[in-house]
Amino acid sequence: METEKMIISRKAVRQYSGQITDKQLHKILLAGNASPVGMGEYDNYRLTVIQNSEILNKMSGIYNAPTVIVVSAKDPDAMEDISAGAIAHNMELAAENQGLGANYNMSCVGSIPNQTLPTGFKGVFALTIGQTSEKFVPREVPMDRIKTNIVK
Ligand SMILES: Cc1cc2nc3c(=O)[nH]c(=O)nc-3n(C[C@H](O)[C@H](O)[C@H](O)COP(=O)(O)O)c2cc1C
Repeated sequence: METEKMIISRKAVRQYSGQITDKQLHKILLAGNASPVGMGEYDNYRLTVIQNSEILNKMSGIYNAPTVIVVSAKDPDAMEDISAGAIAHNMELAAENQGLGANYNMSCVGSIPNQTLPTGFKGVFALTIGQTSEKFVPREVPMDRIKTNIVK
């Protein structure tokens, strides 16, 4: 989909009807790797793709998503939090651009079982993903959804 159209068509999808394919996952991960991160320090981040039902069942607030991608970071602070948001957002757009349902998720991060994430990395942000029957069409986005002041 054309970029501007995709940006206003994206939405939080919390109902999933099946697992994503490896090809779809590859495009999502490529988008994650294409994201900007603070100071360009890519080695401070890790992506963990969780598709193991035993682990997923232990995680809260993931709406039975068949895939969760966790962005973790070394000693996360504001810069890592913001970078994780950029990574997750790029991946969300790449998922929904393929017709998949996706949503940002902070609430599951505290429930990720020990030893799921790489040693030395702390979960910061996550994305829930799965197949969906939802359609992605341009939404009416109110221009004052985020109150804005322009300083000229
Ligand atoms: C930082 C952040 C954290 C979020 N955490 C969650 C979450 O834990 N669970 C959830 O269902 N949605 C979560 N969301 C999704 C928001 O609720 C959703 O994007 C917002 O309500 C706007 O809806 P829209 O994405 O359809 O425009 C999060 C979004 C952001 C940006």
